[in-house]
Amino acid sequence: MNKDKVQIFDTTLRDGEQVPGCKLNTEQKLVIADRLDQLGVDIIEAGFPISSPGDFSSVSEISKIVKNATVCGLTRAVKKDIEVAAEALRYAKRPRIHTGIGTSDSHIKYKFNASREEIIQRAVDAVSYAKSFVEDVEFYAEDAGRTDNEFLARVCEAVVKVGATVLNIPDTTGYCLPEEYGAKIKYLKENVKGIDKAILSCHCHNDLGLATANSIAGVINGARQIECTINGIGERAGNTSLEEVVMILRQHPDLNLDTNINSKLLYDTSLMVSNSMCMPVQPNKAIVGANAFAHSSGIHQDGVIKNRETYEIINPEDVGVTESAIVLTARSGRAALAYRAKKVGYDLTKLQLDIVYQEFLKFADKRKEVMDNDIHFIVEESKLNEIN
Ligand code: KIV
Ligand code: ZN
Repeated sequence: MNKDKVQIFDTTLRDGEQVPGCKLNTEQKLVIADRLDQLGVDIIEAGFPISSPGDFSSVSEISKIVKNATVCGLTRAVKKDIEVAAEALRYAKRPRIHTGIGTSDSHIKYKFNASREEIIQRAVDAVSYAKSFVEDVEFYAEDAGRTDNEFLARVCEAVVKVGATVLNIPDTTGYCLPEEYGAKIKYLKENVKGIDKAILSCHCHNDLGLATANSIAGVINGARQIECTINGIGERAGNTSLEEVVMILRQHPDLNLDTNINSKLLYDTSLMVSNSMCMPVQPNKAIVGANAFAHSSGIHQDGVIKNRETYEIINPEDVGVTESAIVLTARSGRAALAYRAKKVGYDLTKLQLDIVYQEFLKFADKRKEVMDNDIHFIVEESKLNEIN
């Protein structure tokens, strides 16, 4: 059966780069944009052109080199922002302007000191103005996660009417529960007149650790675009992690949804972004963390050595990791020791393994991890020659 396509909107270079200490120069951004294009993302949000001359020139240079993806620039619902974004996107094969405004009561009151009607008008004006420069205009309703559904539907309906092609429903503060966020998308799908002319997009933050779950709830309920970043980097606790949503859809064919991403490039892309942003990836990070395919307890190691699928739901090669790691610690069993010893050249008999294993345990109790060169030492210490 043909799967429904979920567009991947990568915002590593915009929302991701907002992280303190992660700022990139234009050259670094070009390298990452080129890699994102190879990875198969559908949209690259290249920056916020009015925010600084550097960001303007990054968006402009990225627009020149990206071959396949749509290149997008962020704006507020402000004429000057939109003009500057249009200028920065001038060379893009497929330009998109991403404009919007806060729609929750707290944003309307404290940020804009405006009425709901005024917010709708500003939203409509921004989208109409952006449409005078480019065909593809995405509208974001900032803090949609805390905006009541009825008002949100009114805003969405008004901007679709003037040509918004994508409706971004950000859970800006990472507040929603998956059921709640999914229900919000469903409500909009069912209550916004003209919704068939636009795509609903999930943009979730990770303040409660729910960004990925919320994005998946969104697409299950009818959204067809996910906004995400490599390694989940972004403001505060970060954004939805690209590698997680891609692999969730791939590992769950029952959802009948897929993306264009070449998953074999995920690990390498994660490393590239982590290195250029000087932002280490936590070892237990799903999909791309150093321990994502590492097994250290004896029971798990024994299972994985017999058959990988006992403790791995993803083939590491599918995300660009050459092989699973069998890590030797004092919790490891004979199967793991025999496996690793064989890799460094010792094909141990059962009797030899029993002896080496006792030596190994004494050694491993004093170390966090036993490495390949330690195995040579342990085998030497076991004096196997004397028992043959
Ligand atoms: O989190 C958010 O609301 C955003 C918008 C600017 C799209 O990043
Ligand atoms: Zn955001």
